Amino acid sequence: MSDVILSEVDGHVGIVRLNRPDVLNALSLELMKKLVAQLEAYDDDPNIYAILLSGSEKVFAAGADITDMADASTFEMYNRNQFARWERIKKISKPIVAAVSGYALGGGCELAMHCDIIIASETAKFGQPEINIGVMPGAGGTQRLTRAVGKAVAMDVVLTGRFLSAREALSAGLVSRVVPKENFYDEALRIAQELAKKPPLALRLAKESVLKAHEMSLSDGLEYERKLFYMLFATEDQKEGMKAFIEKRRPEFKGK
Ligand code: HXC
Repeated sequence: MSDVILSEVDGHVGIVRLNRPDVLNALSLELMKKLVAQLEAYDDDPNIYAILLSGSEKVFAAGADITDMADASTFEMYNRNQFARWERIKKISKPIVAAVSGYALGGGCELAMHCDIIIASETAKFGQPEINIGVMPGAGGTQRLTRAVGKAVAMDVVLTGRFLSAREALSAGLVSRVVPKENFYDEALRIAQELAKKPPLALRLAKESVLKAHEMSLSDGLEYERKLFYMLFATEDQKEGMKAFIEKRRPEFKGK
């Protein structure tokens, strides 16, 4: 039996692919366990500077595995505490690029929203169709989608269960870029490789600061940003980056 995730390293990029093609990459408990463990392993690996998370060209993920949940009681769901695992994705400090083609639905859409840059193929379809199976989003959909696209579009998507095309998702602010389906993966990998060349500490603090924008008031967020900005003046990469600019040469970052 093939593994539910596939992992490989390309230069300084750690790649994970969701791999349950028969069930449209439904996010089973086993898949989520392995996925989170792999993301954390990349986060701990000093040779990895950026992460790429992908499905196939046909599907990113059609949501949590409905067969895992169909017969569960409230307390079985509660005791499973599966969202603790999702919380761990939020703590990954390295940038994660999502390469999304085909369906990104329910937990699949929520998983993409846990990533930092979403590259969508022209065929991508985003949705939170949980309403059609008697529930609602549970891994952050009502919160992250609303923050990304605003109340009007979020209500439409969550209450009617309709899918957003890649273009709609781009204009609503859910995805970063839309690319032709033939090269969505290569383009996402290229962007992850580009991130891997940036100064890693600045990358990490910049990610942290952008994410705080969702959780803080403007004045607290500005204060927070400023402290992280000052911190970077303790890095060799700041000295190297500015010196290289003045000397009109390419910087050589060391992650120190
Ligand atoms: C389990 C799934 C699945 C899912 C698809 N499959 N989605 N199995 N969980 N989420 C299975 C189907 O049962 C089928 O298996 C095979 O994948 C192919 O799917 P089809 O339905 O035949 O494909 P198609 O007609 O092309 O329709 C595609 C689709 C549809 C529109 C994406 O599959 C669909 O609506 N899927 C469910 C989407 C959804 O409701 N997602 C939210 C889940 S709840 P067989 O054996 O018949 O071939 C959720 C909550 C998250 O995500 C909370 C956080 C954990």
